[in-house]
Amino acid sequence: MSVSVDPTSVDPSQHHSTPVGGDGSEGAPTSPSAPARETGEELRPHAEDAFAAELAALAAQDDRPRPARWRMSPWAVATYLLGGTLPDGTVITPKYVGPRRIVEVAVTTLATDRALLLLGVPGTAKTWVSEHLAAAVSGDSTLLVQGTAGTPEEAIRYGWNYAQLLAHGPSRDALVPSPVMRAMAEGMTARVEELTRIPADVQDSLITILSEKTLPIPELGSEVQAVRGFNLIATANDRDRGVNDLSSALRRRFNTVVLPLPESADAEVEIVSRRVDQIGRSLDLPTAPDGIDEIRRVVTVFRELRDGLTADGRTKLKSPSGTLSTAEAISVVTNGLALAAHFGDGVLRASDVAAGIQGAVIRDPAADRVIWQEYLEAVVRERDGWKDFYRACREVGA
Ligand SMILES: Nc1ncnc2c1ncn2[C@@H]1O[C@H](COP(=O)(O)OP(=O)(O)O)[C@@H](O)[C@H]1O
Ligand SMILES: [Mg+2]
Repeated sequence: MSVSVDPTSVDPSQHHSTPVGGDGSEGAPTSPSAPARETGEELRPHAEDAFAAELAALAAQDDRPRPARWRMSPWAVATYLLGGTLPDGTVITPKYVGPRRIVEVAVTTLATDRALLLLGVPGTAKTWVSEHLAAAVSGDSTLLVQGTAGTPEEAIRYGWNYAQLLAHGPSRDALVPSPVMRAMAEGMTARVEELTRIPADVQDSLITILSEKTLPIPELGSEVQAVRGFNLIATANDRDRGVNDLSSALRRRFNTVVLPLPESADAEVEIVSRRVDQIGRSLDLPTAPDGIDEIRRVVTVFRELRDGLTADGRTKLKSPSGTLSTAEAISVVTNGLALAAHFGDGVLRASDVAAGIQGAVIRDPAADRVIWQEYLEAVVRERDGWKDFYRACREVGA
């Protein structure tokens, strides 16, 4: 068990795969003494590992000015997120599909003394963008605090190793730094997920950190001062508004960037197919070459129900209670591909996505079921080329 003795001398190699006070049920993060580095067998590698080659190429070919302790310039970070081709021909895959300006503002914010708040409805890639920003700026996306209703102040500030504390009293040895404290000490990017789910008084422990750039340790009569390069990315859900709204004092410390829903069906289809392809490869699912039509159908259904209007603008619809986010479309298609691969002929068909779509739409068994049935009868049934989908949905039994 190695508890960091002094947060100013934390071994950077310990960042990887150190569980960081994630579930809020424990007072503070604990770090395994021998961090297991990536083996290529991780179910979900961190962004900095999954895209290590792209990040290295960007850093190597980047001759623009870098803010203190940044791995690359803001311009290169934006390229990492939005994709592009480097002078030597290296292709950087787009991670985020959306307005360039949004990414530029987000990246620039991280180079200022304001923290970044990514706001949006569920499934708009807030977590995804936050992870990739931290990976590109600091080379480490794991300094993460997961916000929940039970997140204690220790998860944001620091906790104690009680065995040490009882044996030797309060000392730097007994102190367990939070991911935020470690980011401050080393000039890195810290992440706080779902900030507005955290109780208001716990949220407010960020005020001193973000305004004074210091984290007092009254028990030791000392403090940890943030060094250059430190900043923080928080994400928050639009739908959680009013749950634990940010105090105005805290909100002033953030630049807010709202991540929109994909602006067009084409953009959303691109996001879904790109991501499904990546996930499919990591799960060893055979690629489905003709899957694009089915992806387009899932996206169309989701968008029409979300917007309360058919794509041709002719028929008004009722919107179900679920969010029908891009993220859910991705999982419906991924599940469909797995069905097609394991129980079908490998081609993604209507029957592989019907149950998944229905599950995403019908969240409230009473009201949503009626909305879904109306949509099936009034829209799906009448639409050219959608007979197979109508039949498949009927078969799952709406
Ligand atoms: N505009 C987008 N560009 C790229 N990927 C997106 C976009 N919108 C959603 N996604 C995908 O949706 C998935 C879920 O996003 P996530 O970050 O978990 O959403 P949030 O945190 O906003 O609820 C990610 O896998 C991401 O790839
Ligand atoms: Mg999220």
